[in-house]
Amino acid sequence: VKLTFVAPDGSQTQIDAPEGTSVMKAAVANDVDGIVGECGGAMMCATCHCYVDEAWADRTGPREDGEDDMLEGAASEVTPLSRLSCQIKLTADLDGLVVHLPEEQL
Ligand code: FES
Repeated sequence: VKLTFVAPDGSQTQIDAPEGTSVMKAAVANDVDGIVGECGGAMMCATCHCYVDEAWADRTGPREDGEDDMLEGAASEVTPLSRLSCQIKLTADLDGLVVHLPEEQL
């Protein structure tokens, strides 16, 4: 599954990740700056905050239960496109997904 991360300065990082992993795990495994994932995907931190590209928001679907509460603690501004990247599971359907990275995570 191809994935593109766009940093706040506009620079892009493209990676290829296996299906079934999460966007957070894929980012951490590929050393993408800007996704920390402190809690390992347990929805207990907000250091995996990302903004799903508008064109993809329908396909990634709505936030999971509990994401809103965690996002309240996010270091950067929360928008309607904000997600915890550990809760976005990569499926074949998301091949080509673009996510934007927030200014800061901590
Ligand atoms: Fe902690 Fe996503 S990695 S909430």
